[in-house]
Amino acid sequence: MKTESVVLIIADISGYTRFMLDHQKALVHSQMVISELLNLLVQQAGPPLEVVELEGDAVFMYAAKAEQAVARKKIGAQLLEFFAVFRRKTEELQAYSMCFCNACRNIAKLKLKIVVHSGEAVFSKIGQFNRLSGVDVITVHRLLKNSVAAREYLLATESAMADLEFPEPLEMIATEEAYDVGALKTCAYLPAAGRPVAAHKTAARPLFPSHVGREILRYEIRREYSEVANTPGKGFHFHTGGALAQMLDYEAHWCNTIPAPAVASFAGTGNPFAVGEIRRGDHVLDVGSGAGFDSLIAAHLVGPSGRVVGVDMTPAMLHKARAAATAAGLRQVEFKEGYAESLPLPDAWADVVISNGAINLCPDKPAVFREMYRVLKPGGRLQIADLVVRKAISEKAKKNIDLWTG
Ligand SMILES: C[S@@+](CC[C@H](N)C(=O)[O-])C[C@H]1O[C@@H](n2cnc3c(N)ncnc32)[C@H](O)[C@@H]1O
Repeated sequence: MKTESVVLIIADISGYTRFMLDHQKALVHSQMVISELLNLLVQQAGPPLEVVELEGDAVFMYAAKAEQAVARKKIGAQLLEFFAVFRRKTEELQAYSMCFCNACRNIAKLKLKIVVHSGEAVFSKIGQFNRLSGVDVITVHRLLKNSVAAREYLLATESAMADLEFPEPLEMIATEEAYDVGALKTCAYLPAAGRPVAAHKTAARPLFPSHVGREILRYEIRREYSEVANTPGKGFHFHTGGALAQMLDYEAHWCNTIPAPAVASFAGTGNPFAVGEIRRGDHVLDVGSGAGFDSLIAAHLVGPSGRVVGVDMTPAMLHKARAAATAAGLRQVEFKEGYAESLPLPDAWADVVISNGAINLCPDKPAVFREMYRVLKPGGRLQIADLVVRKAISEKAKKNIDLWTG
């Protein structure tokens, strides 16, 4: 155990209400958004800041107290940069959100509060974890409950202010807080009232879709298509099963040849076999292969000398497709977990790439087509059945995640 003089910092995210807890979808999405923001703060916390641990929706950090002005300035600049990156990220997440749930609609309401205190901390190690304790560690946590009437602020104790320097003078409001650990003179900086934080150095904005927007969409797609795999008879707002295959003019005998569970979870939007011939010996890739109906048809068509790979991102679908391939005794077909946007196959592998009802679920369609092109042999063919829209889709519809997943 050792005792060190440190600057203690907690960066706390708040803004989501308990309302989220009552709604399963919003709860999951809010956790995904918060995780992304916590990750951002942890990435941002480079030396001299060290992350001690995550505490709920907050990051607890410290920096060894520095004698030199340059290190004090660095910590000050880092604290301001936290506000800047946090605001940029929430704006980006909001702009690229594809969902109307309460969590996704209210991302811009998330705010960052930073509390800072300087003092002594006792360092101990429990297993591989560092633990900081002592009165000043308690004090910095007490600071999270305070009298500042703002949603975004930096609140620093007098002792912390002596250990910090900011790149430019900040407009601070003198405050006072009383706790069981004693009364504290503090001062608060409200970024919203001061110079706009976005004026600090900015990073390039990523292109659509944002990482977390895409993860939320993928989460919802997996949820929906796990149901199609596990309870195909439940009834969906799209057609499924053998009746759908008939509607799409699949040859009737395929429904008798393919194992019934794979037929029951068929959820295509067209018939990719209607637009070109699959020959014996061909290598065929099925993108978004679902429960494997099309892949198994392709496996029959290419015969034992050919190869078929189905790629899907939903484990329940892959499980069903693999079971069907085993039941059908088709050894020339395999199912791989992966994304249409980064296909797990080498360049120039496929004679034919088929896909049925999957590309409309992918927000980054150019990435999907780039990947399909990469894995196709020169002169190979794309045989795609999917939804095509003939008129512009409204912004409102683009942000309705239920329209994306179904
Ligand atoms: C409408 S279902 C169609 C499944 C199958 N092609 C069929 O016709 O039954 C769409 C499938 O695409 C998969 N999918 C959606 N987005 C994907 C992505 N980005 N990468 C891989 N698979 C994806 C889903 O998991 C789901 O199994």
